[in-house]
Amino acid sequence: FEKKGRPPVVWLHFQECTCCSESFIRGSHPVVADVLLDAISLDYTQTLQAASGAAAEKCLHDTMKNYPGKYILLVEGSVPTGAGGAYCCINGESAEEILKKAAKDAAAIIAWGNCASYGCVQAAKPNPTNATAISKLVGKPVINVPGCPPIADVMAAVVTHILMFGRGPELDAQGRPKEFYGRRVHDTCYRRPYYDAGLFVDAWDDEGARKGYCLFRMGCRGPVTYNACSVTKWNGSVSYPIQSGHGCIGCSENGFWDNGPFYRH
Ligand code: SF4
Ligand code: F3S
Repeated sequence: FEKKGRPPVVWLHFQECTCCSESFIRGSHPVVADVLLDAISLDYTQTLQAASGAAAEKCLHDTMKNYPGKYILLVEGSVPTGAGGAYCCINGESAEEILKKAAKDAAAIIAWGNCASYGCVQAAKPNPTNATAISKLVGKPVINVPGCPPIADVMAAVVTHILMFGRGPELDAQGRPKEFYGRRVHDTCYRRPYYDAGLFVDAWDDEGARKGYCLFRMGCRGPVTYNACSVTKWNGSVSYPIQSGHGCIGCSENGFWDNGPFYRH
């Protein structure tokens, strides 16, 4: 990847709820405005761009044509391959066609969130649209940044890593950056001492809940979930689900919606 100027970036949206974009714009380390205005040139994204219709599509096609091998491709959402792609068409093209065209000459490809990384809720059984992870379609390496949504600071850090070093971060076997997905939420959870001491919440309003004991018996999936929530936290390092009194529901894991149950009581 060539480290020069503000590299062009294309952000595609397919089957998703836009929570990845919502998360990204709340980034604070670095401030998202610094990323968008100083570090990259966000040439195309349906959610944030001012242009619409033909003018917007021209931005996409001009970037692909003028910067082959130089633009970063960000993908939010899964790709429905069922019914010939009819479930998600933009400007007369299926999501699969748009993705494959944009991926062909991309310098780096990042899958935002559980949808693009694994399929998420659209891929939950019986997966009526045949929602598919983008890594299964592009025939090139993909950096998976799962989560529903992923943590804003992790998203910015992955992009920043590419800009700084001219290559992607080190990945694990599932294509996830090791620096953020190398540990379980459970490994650095501040309630871990209670887990080790055998002190658990057994009902949402019991004495253990008031004392902030471990949520494992309520169904917390922190012990089987790889993410950085208990290290970076959310919303500018303010909190994360467990700190708010709710167990981890494993939103960054493959098969998130089918892995349940989310609650034990
Ligand atoms: Fe582990 Fe969840 Fe208990 Fe935290 S609350 S120590 S992540 S089981
Ligand atoms: Fe998701 Fe669990 Fe973090 S539910 S936000 S991975 S604590």
